[in-house]
Amino acid sequence: MPETDPLDSVAGRLAEARHVAVLTGAGVSAESGVATFRDPDGLWAKFSPQELASMDGFLANPQRVLEWYRHRREVIDGVEPNAGHRALAELQRWIPGVTVITQNVDRLHQRAGSRTVLEVHGNLVENRCSVCGDVDAGEPRTGDGPDGLPRCRQCDGLLRPNVVWFGEDLPEDVFGAAEEAASDADVFLSIGTSAEVYPAAGLPLLARRHGAFVVEINPNVTSLSQYVHHSIRMTSGTALPAIVERLVEFRQQSRQPS
Ligand code: OAD
Repeated sequence: MPETDPLDSVAGRLAEARHVAVLTGAGVSAESGVATFRDPDGLWAKFSPQELASMDGFLANPQRVLEWYRHRREVIDGVEPNAGHRALAELQRWIPGVTVITQNVDRLHQRAGSRTVLEVHGNLVENRCSVCGDVDAGEPRTGDGPDGLPRCRQCDGLLRPNVVWFGEDLPEDVFGAAEEAASDADVFLSIGTSAEVYPAAGLPLLARRHGAFVVEINPNVTSLSQYVHHSIRMTSGTALPAIVERLVEFRQQSRQPS
């Protein structure tokens, strides 16, 4: 018997699905030109997460940390969503019950047109007060305090990027919604993530325990690979448009009179 093409198999599952949860990681933005973290040329190969992504690192050298995030904001301002982001936005047009759960802080899913995006690690666009937690959704501000550091309008505390750092809790309401989406999913797609960082990396396993068909899209093997139903060893920018194209074909065929 000929083997079913994995892309067809995933598209077929999606064609039947009512609820789909998608977990994305840095690999989804790689084809836009945004660096990942744990690939050989990734950010954590060049920079120290303790220095740049922890409250201790921030308090030790706020100028350095803010400068690094300012640079990362500039990078994302200069790039565009890629074919993978666009295909996920298109998927939501065919299956309204798609929830995108992203570890990415770059807002590229939203720029591609995805709705219902749960940012479990926050975002690079907003600032948050390191003291009172007030979120400043305006333009990133720099240097309006006497020491040249950005300050909260409410309490004068130091402003930091609204991202989750190592040792910090994820936003409870957002992660609760992500767990709900994973538990309800008929199909769960884990895309472009090394699945090393918990609790986000536990979501595909939660989905599987609740009966979802779990698919990984990643050119490389990850620690999740052994637990999924299918691993598609392609980039997201290649696999996702192909899957969505086949889903649309399946849907159109099923509408034709037999
Ligand atoms: P990683 O850098 O850990 O993993 C990126 C994954 O993307 C790897 O498994 C690559 O094989 C894969 N990849 C690379 N290019 C790809 C492509 N074009 N298409 C599909 N996959 C590709 O990034 P994350 O898993 O997102 O946390 O990392 C998780 C968290 O660790 C991040 O959210 C960040 C980081 O510390 C915070 O900032 C809080």
